[in-house]
Amino acid sequence: MTIEISKVCVIGAGTMGSGIAAAAASAGQKVVLLDIAGPEGARNAPAERGLERIRNSNPPLLLLEHDINKISLGNVEDDLAMIADADWIVEAVVERLPVKQALYRAMLPHLKADAIISSNTSTIPLALLTEGLPEDVRKRFCITHFFNPVRYMRLLELVQGPETSDEVIARVGDYCDRLLGKGLVHCADTPGFLGNRVGVFAMQAAIHEAVSLGLPIEDADAIFGRPLGIPKTGAFALYDLIGLDLMADVVRSLRSILPDSDPFHEVGAENALINSQIEKGFNGNKGKGGFYARIDGKPMALDLASGAWRPRQQPAKEIVAVGEAVDPAALIALDGKAGQFAWNVLARVLTYSAGLIGEVSDSPQDIDDAMKLGYNWIEGPFELLDRIGAGAFVARLEAEGRPVPQFLKAASNASFYKVQAGQLLVRHADGDYCAVSLPEGSVRFSMLRRTLQADFENESASVFTLEGGVRLVEFHSKANALDEKSVEALDFAAENPGNGVIIHNDAQHFSSGVNLNRFLTMIDAQDWVGIDQFLLGFQKAVHKLQKLKKPVVGAPTGLALGGGLEVLLHCKSLMVHANCVMGLVEPLVGVIPAGGGVKETYRRWYKQTGDAGKAAIKTFDQIFDGVTGTSPSLSARLGYFNSGVGDGVSGRDMIVANRDRLVTAALERVASLNHHLDEGGRWPVPLAPAEVVETLIGARQALHGAGFTAHDETVARALASIFTDTKPFEVESDWEFYDRERAAFISLAKTPETRARIAHMLATGKPLRN
Ligand code: NAI
Repeated sequence: MTIEISKVCVIGAGTMGSGIAAAAASAGQKVVLLDIAGPEGARNAPAERGLERIRNSNPPLLLLEHDINKISLGNVEDDLAMIADADWIVEAVVERLPVKQALYRAMLPHLKADAIISSNTSTIPLALLTEGLPEDVRKRFCITHFFNPVRYMRLLELVQGPETSDEVIARVGDYCDRLLGKGLVHCADTPGFLGNRVGVFAMQAAIHEAVSLGLPIEDADAIFGRPLGIPKTGAFALYDLIGLDLMADVVRSLRSILPDSDPFHEVGAENALINSQIEKGFNGNKGKGGFYARIDGKPMALDLASGAWRPRQQPAKEIVAVGEAVDPAALIALDGKAGQFAWNVLARVLTYSAGLIGEVSDSPQDIDDAMKLGYNWIEGPFELLDRIGAGAFVARLEAEGRPVPQFLKAASNASFYKVQAGQLLVRHADGDYCAVSLPEGSVRFSMLRRTLQADFENESASVFTLEGGVRLVEFHSKANALDEKSVEALDFAAENPGNGVIIHNDAQHFSSGVNLNRFLTMIDAQDWVGIDQFLLGFQKAVHKLQKLKKPVVGAPTGLALGGGLEVLLHCKSLMVHANCVMGLVEPLVGVIPAGGGVKETYRRWYKQTGDAGKAAIKTFDQIFDGVTGTSPSLSARLGYFNSGVGDGVSGRDMIVANRDRLVTAALERVASLNHHLDEGGRWPVPLAPAEVVETLIGARQALHGAGFTAHDETVARALASIFTDTKPFEVESDWEFYDRERAAFISLAKTPETRARIAHMLATGKPLRN
């Protein structure tokens, strides 16, 4: 389908409007951003504040800073005529019906005949928004409910009213899917749609049950968190993140629009403790804290019974012991309060979700998708139910006299998802199984993999064969940290490449780098040979991929750091999701990239500048500082994406806005690369003279003074030793660099300071400055 929207107008330049404007500008579109009028002389000041918000956003709302120039500003009193050539007008003004309705009326004389109008409302029914509008406009009106922050949250809920034309939904949906990269969930015009209806209910259920059971909030977040595949913020820390005040408003609003019979009222009552925290100014992370806070510099947590602060504690041992693999059955089987809490929350949330089937959507996939794309759950409610087993779940509900929705009861002897004849099916409201649905051309690998048999598999990675005999390597260890087993999978693919190799996974992050736990264990055992062997194995595998006379295409999303990026730097071409963050960050833990990362960075800079000294400085600065590109376009400036210097990268890299389109894009790239393949990596490349090292270190010392520590200097020298020499010579092959990388890495691994940096990162997730 052709995308028939080329000019977008966003009205309301607040949190959401500025995010939507930034997303459209990042997609290369011209955007008009309007807000209310400011005082004389500063009529566009409110819209300018929206632009400032975009400029100061961190993580950035734009893919490239200068895309901000695509946004023109105005105000709704003087400039409504600016909407005249807009194909799509998105309203994101305050959540007040009279304000929205007055705005629509004012817009009427200016609207293009086929312009689409959508509201970003969270709670107001479409029927009320369009009241009094001409029939022809009601046909072009829908709700597009984005999530905050717009660039990073994948979910877009699309609400079609009885009068909205199918064509309007198709046009706006296609635009948001392909250009803005959104995962679409079609919802009925019901309160809170799907994401917030279930998401807010789930948070409220967790808070309600923790209060009733007297469970410490750390325990509650540790249960209603990682072992359920829910972000570790759980419910209480998520409240802090969103803001207690905003959450209180959302809960009140849902309470006011949901019918009295809705189970939301059992968990969504006014909460005196939350109100008192807000009154005291503890409204979340944007202020002094909320449920968690630092008081006098110490981490504290709120005691739910007394409302007093107490020192923050580790979650109970039995909860930690469950681990982080998604295992709801293990959680609800725990003894004591922890197991009771897990059960009470799941009983409520999964039952509530099942109760919405038939009302808000006919397909459990919509609810699962909404929770995955809008709340970052790894699995949705029905996938969790399949893990527990609907039969066992229903039996326990019935034994306790809890209500069981008909849709859930009817599935007691079945699962919600099943694979049949190579297709993934989902059970719909009427009990029939239908193929899971995604827009045409989209492939979500986490779904597809359920229909495939692995050709190779271990705990850390798998290799599958896709259509056309193309292999796909999937990492699936914790945070996709790479270890010997991941390397085995890469090696298997390099040895058995079929018609090409794609390296991709559908986890939140492509790979956080090499597994530091493994290194720490080997350092403690002084197993330097073991470290060398591991690094050598890694280098051999990626080198094989680079030299393969077959297409090798990396298709990353999320973080691609350290070793994860090194794998990608050896691919012939990259199809990169727009939000992918790339960087070699090893010096933060006191080591240097030793999987060909220094080699590839230096080689690329040399090819670009033709000057060994300049290449040395560029390579040093970006690796020593762990510089990351927060979008592929920014990574291009580091030479990691489409290095564009004709240095042997066979195909140009591409940005893919929607991560559900990465696999298709990679398959297409494999097909096109088959015709013009290049070995990858051109030689010779000269080393830089050793004097450059003193200049680099001198510059750091001058800049940071004592902040540049003795160990920083050790790391700096080890890094520079890879691409400098007292007698610089022309390097003829990759192996000179690989050998130097391993030697530098091991020299650093032997220092106590590096050990301390690694241990600190593992314990706290933060770099140690020593
Ligand atoms: P906000 O308060 O950050 O921004 C609202 C903006 O609208 C302000 O800049 C305000 O000056 C402007 N405005 C008010 N009346 C206007 C008018 N007549 N004409 C032009 N501009 C006007 O609000 P936020 O959070 O961006 O919310 C906007 C809409 O998006 C609301 O409908 C909200 O329910 C919805 N929403 C909010 C989400 C969030 O996380 N904040 C998530 C999803 C939807």
